[in-house]
Amino acid sequence: MSRIFINYRRQDSEGYVGRLYDHLLKHFLRDDIFMDVDRLKPGIDFVQALEEAVAACDVFIAVIGRTWADVVDDSGARRLDLWDDFVRIEIASALKQNKIVIPLLVGGAKMPAPTALPEDIAAICRRSAFEISHARFVDDVERLAEIVRESISPTTRLKPKADSVTLERKTVAIKQVRAEVVAASDSPLYQFRIASGSYPVIGDGNPDAAIFFIGESPGRSEAESGKPFVGPSGEIFDELLRGIALRREDVFLTNLLLDRPPEKREPLPAEIAFYTPFVDRLLTIIEPAVIVPLGRFAMSYVLKKYDVPEKNGKISTLHGKLLNARVDGRDLHIVPMYHPAVVLYSANQRDVLQRDFEKLRIFV
Ligand code: URA
Repeated sequence: MSRIFINYRRQDSEGYVGRLYDHLLKHFLRDDIFMDVDRLKPGIDFVQALEEAVAACDVFIAVIGRTWADVVDDSGARRLDLWDDFVRIEIASALKQNKIVIPLLVGGAKMPAPTALPEDIAAICRRSAFEISHARFVDDVERLAEIVRESISPTTRLKPKADSVTLERKTVAIKQVRAEVVAASDSPLYQFRIASGSYPVIGDGNPDAAIFFIGESPGRSEAESGKPFVGPSGEIFDELLRGIALRREDVFLTNLLLDRPPEKREPLPAEIAFYTPFVDRLLTIIEPAVIVPLGRFAMSYVLKKYDVPEKNGKISTLHGKLLNARVDGRDLHIVPMYHPAVVLYSANQRDVLQRDFEKLRIFV
């Protein structure tokens, strides 16, 4: 079901709409955005199909460029006056269904007077418009995305809830992973675990979570308790979760390494190679809609695992971006983020992380 409907006229605003679509994809899922009527199958009643597509949306964006009201067909008739004009049918349908209709003025366009429009769409003039300027395109689209996000239905779930049998199966499967890691005496960090009297940290949270976080490696507090993110980074993590009205029980949280490395050092390639097959099994069991790697090590692992085009990118450019992968015929999304520990070194990174966490709202 498309939650955002983009209505536009090719001859009037195609260039703007292409850019708009690309930017909105940083905030919303491809399936959330409906804009091209070409997707309709031949032979169907197109008026009914357009009305159904409009009915399914939460927000209807009518892109209005300078020539929007004046475009004519080959015979010189104004398109907006024709009964079969898609732009008109869609707008009339959105207004009739009392959708949130945002007239989006582009290219310096002005809102036409109601008297210049056919009766069934004249009421669009009463909907307050949003303007995107060429010079401030990115900032304007970011603001628009914010407005759209606030308007889309919070009840639309990307991942249907598992039934109790499936939930039990997942819980048992995670316990099995835990048992195997506990017993993994061939792990590169096993000796250190035993010598320091600590526990492995498998992960915590909802066995059927839509959102799956992967940190770097457990620290001392985590290895003492067997739980991820319970030290200082954990406090920041919890606060960020609360900011989007989530609790730990709503998500799943683990690390790239499932044992604590000594002296807070970075993960070594051999350690990553040893533990990630367990992390992969957790991903297969939980089947999240989105993976959130926290920090560059987890990000690099996840992007390479799913072979996404951005796999060699830097976290400074990819953080907060909604990346797309396909797994076994289904969509999987990845939103890399900085590791919460960055806030301990640089307080203003909290705002960056907070903004990036906002991107997860569409998965809630
Ligand atoms: N840092 C991590 O990456 N993971 C934890 O569990 C704690 C701190």
